[in-house]
Amino acid sequence: MNLGVTIYSSVTESEESGVRVSRQVFGAVATLVVVVGALVMMEGATASAGLRRTSYTAGAPGAGDAYFPYAGNGGYDVQHYDLDLTYTPPAPDPAPIVGQLSGVATIDLVATQDLNSFNLDLRGMDVQAVKVDGQRVREATPPAPGELPAGPGYWQVQDDDARVWELTIQPRPKLKQGQTARVVVTYGGETVRPEDIEGALYGWVTTRDGAMVVGEPEGSMTWYPVSDHQTDKATYSFEITVPEGKVAVANGLPAGDPVTENGWTTWFWDAPDAQASYLTTASVGDYDLRFSETAGGLPIVDAVDDALTPANAATTEASLALQADMIAFIEGAFVPYPFNSYGSIVDDDTVGYALETQTRPVYSRVAREGTVVHELAHQWFGNAVSPGLWRDIWLNEGWATYVEWLWSEATGGATAQENFDAVMEIPADDEFWALTISDPGPFGLFLGGIYDRGAATLHALRGEVGDEAFYAAAREWLVRFDDSTGTTDDFQAVYEEISGQDLGAFFDVWVRTPTKPTSW
Ligand code: TRP
Ligand code: ZN
Repeated sequence: MNLGVTIYSSVTESEESGVRVSRQVFGAVATLVVVVGALVMMEGATASAGLRRTSYTAGAPGAGDAYFPYAGNGGYDVQHYDLDLTYTPPAPDPAPIVGQLSGVATIDLVATQDLNSFNLDLRGMDVQAVKVDGQRVREATPPAPGELPAGPGYWQVQDDDARVWELTIQPRPKLKQGQTARVVVTYGGETVRPEDIEGALYGWVTTRDGAMVVGEPEGSMTWYPVSDHQTDKATYSFEITVPEGKVAVANGLPAGDPVTENGWTTWFWDAPDAQASYLTTASVGDYDLRFSETAGGLPIVDAVDDALTPANAATTEASLALQADMIAFIEGAFVPYPFNSYGSIVDDDTVGYALETQTRPVYSRVAREGTVVHELAHQWFGNAVSPGLWRDIWLNEGWATYVEWLWSEATGGATAQENFDAVMEIPADDEFWALTISDPGPFGLFLGGIYDRGAATLHALRGEVGDEAFYAAAREWLVRFDDSTGTTDDFQAVYEEISGQDLGAFFDVWVRTPTKPTSW
C-alpha cells in the first residue's frame, strides 16, 4: 500500500574520534593502529581498551509498523511519562471549539542503541523547550534531507498531508546504549478535533465542556510527546490543571486530592501498570465522579457527564452498575483483572465510539451494556496483551466481541452459538467476507469483519480444540504476553502448543483468506 509518505532521511554519524585518539597515543606504531582500526571498523565492535570505535546513529522515526510508519520510534525504550498539563476548554457557543493546552512532559527512557539523535511523535503542538538530563537543547532549523546538524538541537516536522509528525532531539552529550535519560519537553498549542487516517475523531478531541481523549491507533501524539506505538509500553503519572469546576480524569487512581487555587483545580492521577500509548486518557468535562469497589476490593472510579439525556443517563447507570459482576465473570473464565483499578468515563460528545482506555474506558453519549462488557474485555484482550502490529487488531476486537457473546449467553440473551450462526448466515458474496482479518490495512482496522469474523474465528477455534484447550490457551496467551504485545502468529503458536494440534489450515482459512470459511 502506498500511503503517499516520503521517507525522510535517517542520518548516521560515525564517531571516529576514538580511533583518532588511539593513533596519537600509539604514535610510532601508527601503521599497526590503522590496521587494527580497520579491523574494528569491519567488525563494528570493541577490539580492546582504548581502541573502541563507537557509532552513534539516529533512532528510527517509526516503530516499524507498516500501517503507520511514523508511529512510535526506535533507539530507546520509555519507562515512564509524567504529564503536567494545563488546559483551558473552549469559551461558550458561538466561540469555536478550540481549547488551549500547555504541558511539561517528563519522559524517562533507556537508550537501546548508541544514539546521535532520537524522535518523539508530536502532532499539532509547538515545542518551547527541551532538556535532556538537565541540559538545555536549543531549537535548530530542520536539516535538509541527508544533512546532519553538528551540535545539539531539536526540531519539528509537521506534515499533515503525509501524516508525519516528528520531534527530533539531538542531545549532547550523545546517549550511549543502556543509558537512562530524563527528557523534559515543554510544549503547547491550540487543541482541535483531530482525525485518524479514516477521518474518525480521535486524540485530544476538544469538546464544548472539555475534551474527550481517545488515542487509538496513533492519536496520543496530539496531546503529548510520545513514542506512539504499543510496542513501547510505559507507566504514567498526571497532574492536570483545569478551570475550577471542571473534572480531569486519567488512567489509574487519584494520587492525592485535587488542589484548587486562584480559580484552577489540579487533578493528580497515577497509572502504575505498563500501558500502551493509545490507551492513555486525560478527559476533561463536567463529570460527576463516583468511587466504589468490587467485592474483591478493586477500586472503581466512574465519571459521568452531567449533560447526558435522561434516557442515556438511565441506560448508562444500569450498565455501569454491572461492571463489578462483569469483572467477576471475565476473571472466572480467564485470569484475574490485570490492573490496579477500573471505571468508566461517559462524555456527552459526538465522537461516536467508545475506547478501552486502560483502567478507564471512555464512552460517547451513552454506555450500553454490550459496549461496557466489550471495553472491559479489552482490559485483558488488547490492553494487558496488545497487538504486536496494527495488522493484529482482530485479536483485540475479535476477543472483545466474543466476550460480549459469552456475557450475553451467561445473562440469558443470545448464546455464543446463536451469534456465530448469525454471522455465518451472511452470504458468501457479501463484502463482509472479503477482508483478510490478519492484515486488513490501515483503513480496515474497525470494519465489521474485524469484530464479527474475529469473534466467529474464536468460536470456531473453540469447536476445533474443545472447551478445555480453548480456555487454557487463552489463559496462557494472557499470562505469557502480559504487559507486552503478541502477533497473530504468536497466538496461533500458543493454541497449537496447548491443544497439541496443527492449526495452520484453520488459521489460514479463518484469518488469512479473504473469503467465507466453508470447511476448516
Ligand atoms: N477500539 C474501539 C472499540 O472497539 C473502536 C474504535 C477505535 C473505533 N477507533 C475507532 C471505531 C474509529 C470506529 C472508528 O472499542
Ligand atoms: Zn473494541
